[in-house]
Amino acid sequence: MKKQLFINGEWVEAKEYRPLYSPYNNELLAEIAYADGTEVDSAITAAENARPLMAKMPAHERASILERLVELMTKNEEECVRLLALEAAKPWTTAKAEVARTIMTYKFAAEEARRIHGETIPMDAAPGGEGRISFTIRQPIGVVAAITPFNFPMNLVAHKVGPAIAAGNTIVLKPASQTPLTSLYLAELLQEAGLPNGALNVVTGSGSVVGDRLIQDDRVKAITFTGSPAVGIGLRSKAGLKKVTLELGSNSALIVDKGVDVDSIIPRAVTGAFSFAGQVCISLQRAYVHEELYDEFVEKFVAKARSLKLGSPLDPETEVSALISPKDVDRTLQWIEEARQSGAIVAAGGGREGNIVEPTVLLNVDPKEKVSCQEVFAPIVLINKITSVDEAIHYVNDSRYGLQAGIYTNNVFTALKAAEELEVGGVMVNDIPTFRVDHMPYGGVKESGIGREGLKYAIEEMTEMKLVSFKK
Ligand code: SIN
Repeated sequence: MKKQLFINGEWVEAKEYRPLYSPYNNELLAEIAYADGTEVDSAITAAENARPLMAKMPAHERASILERLVELMTKNEEECVRLLALEAAKPWTTAKAEVARTIMTYKFAAEEARRIHGETIPMDAAPGGEGRISFTIRQPIGVVAAITPFNFPMNLVAHKVGPAIAAGNTIVLKPASQTPLTSLYLAELLQEAGLPNGALNVVTGSGSVVGDRLIQDDRVKAITFTGSPAVGIGLRSKAGLKKVTLELGSNSALIVDKGVDVDSIIPRAVTGAFSFAGQVCISLQRAYVHEELYDEFVEKFVAKARSLKLGSPLDPETEVSALISPKDVDRTLQWIEEARQSGAIVAAGGGREGNIVEPTVLLNVDPKEKVSCQEVFAPIVLINKITSVDEAIHYVNDSRYGLQAGIYTNNVFTALKAAEELEVGGVMVNDIPTFRVDHMPYGGVKESGIGREGLKYAIEEMTEMKLVSFKK
């Protein structure tokens, strides 16, 4: 039950522990170490000491460690799913899907480890550059601090730990305080896979204590963070010359143009809105649907939303379970009430069952309402009527955020116009915004973040380019 810190390949006693409760039924799951500044320092020291060994480790060995991790995770898949379902209240089937994705992410990381390369530079393209053969190489950046969120406790950790190992870096990982168990289990698996001591250190605890220490230490060369804009922007402002990758929030939107087949869209759209109770950065939060098919879309969407099964995350039938904390349940219900008072229609849901918020569909929502302009991170979707795709593009772009957007249309010119004009990091044509496979570039513009994840792109963020120029 007592979970210690993992530093320099060992389980280390902390001075303080705090209870971790199930978000579903408030049962005690474990006692988690809360690191203080000195303990964070020890983790950074361990990562710094392991740095030369990792930097010199050949690519095939780094790849082999990641491949062994893939084998171990596959062998222990059930335990990964169980921990994930317990700590995050992630429904069993959703947790299973996350573990499968995590395994795929580490597979991609192993492959990418073998193909980190530079390019030759035609120096004689400029007068004075004649007689030189020049090329770039990519070298590990050093100690990477990874700060991860509760919503994908395994796969978003994999998106930071995988590329860091692939690139020959060392890591101090601070998992979300709500979901530390899977990260601690990862430490066990990576040690068994042969990762050298100190290459991965896991420090659990409070975001402000651990995060502040990591950001202030000059030995940390890169910070990779997924979480709220407020915290991300704060980290960046204190980061000095560290490289910073930020994956922040969004109020992702879908445009549905006239003439499309509603029946084929509904199951995807409902999944996009309510998967993991909407606690996904690219969750479908705003749908802008053409007036010609609005009524049909709403009717079918509401029917499907009402049919979702609520319940325990450990029940394989459950589709929607608890939010991560009772505080988030209260906030969500408050936001729904505010929208209702300003004229929104609650077409489905709007209530709670314990710590579960019912899948909620709101119509006719004012863009200034929190459920529209802020990230809800809860099972709420609004469906508003539009008269043209241009109007919808305006609404989508009228946002602090810009992570991903989706558009269903039969018109290729409309699709291309939307792709060009939508202010986001990724446009999904004929799909919901809630689409990701793990090797694609993933990240946002505006307050949705800076930098890109996806193994190849994360490795670029975690390596330094060096130019080598030979004069003949
Ligand atoms: C996120 O919530 O940022 C990650 C979404 C995903 O990986 O599917």
